[in-house]
Amino acid sequence: MNRLPKVVVLTGAGISAESGLATFRDNNGLWEEHRIEDVATPQAFSADPERVYRFYNARRAQLQDPAITPNTAHLALARLQSTLGDRMMLITQNVDDLHERAGSCGVVHMHGTLQSYRCLRSHKSVAYTSAFDSRTRCSCCNPGSPVRPDIVWFGEMPMHIERIIEALSQADIFIAIGTSGQVYPAAGFVDIARDHSAHTVELNLASASTETLFEETWQGPATSVVPAYVDKLLKAIP
Ligand code: APR
Repeated sequence: MNRLPKVVVLTGAGISAESGLATFRDNNGLWEEHRIEDVATPQAFSADPERVYRFYNARRAQLQDPAITPNTAHLALARLQSTLGDRMMLITQNVDDLHERAGSCGVVHMHGTLQSYRCLRSHKSVAYTSAFDSRTRCSCCNPGSPVRPDIVWFGEMPMHIERIIEALSQADIFIAIGTSGQVYPAAGFVDIARDHSAHTVELNLASASTETLFEETWQGPATSVVPAYVDKLLKAIP
């Protein structure tokens, strides 16, 4: 019998904050500067596609800034994965690629990614890291079709949900890191995991509410608490 625990990790914007990427709902968060309904809904894309392309092109360009690098929290999760292998699922709500750059593989990007566009005709995701707009044509159709950001907007279905629910229902440990728990379905993952007897852990700068949904809570910046928690977990693994 495999004695390694099955671990599901969910990360949110807080894990990338100390790498220099803004979160959404903290002070100076992205939703203070931009209205969700202007840049992150299908209706926004229909009404003013260039504004939506500009918003995501700016975020993609920021990722190419050499100052933006994975931090010790991303690295600690890659270390955990190198011990647990396929017994760990790393789910992120983030559209950055800092987990991959830290060495994690098979990252489940439930809200999409800035590292690709989506063809509006075939709906395929195509790896692409340059800026794009309404003149860009995909490389998957002939003739090429218009493309959109490969991002899950408000009102759209997150990606890989069936796979995620299956992993949550088999998990021994569920760990949520740097997420405010305000956006469903991710906010409900803790309930699914707990209902299936997983031990639930929250690692966050500040707890989202006084009534925590988690059995164990570590408060502090991700760059401190994530490596510390991973060290504790690895020591407990036989
Ligand atoms: N270390 C740990 N946690 C932090 C840090 C840090 N250095 N800085 C901030 N946090 C925490 C905050 O306390 C907050 O709970 O990260 C969380 C960030 O919350 P949000 O800004 O709401 O980001 P997130 O939960 O990822 O948002 C979910 O909402 O707008 C959508 O699609 C977008 O994926 C995003 C989703």
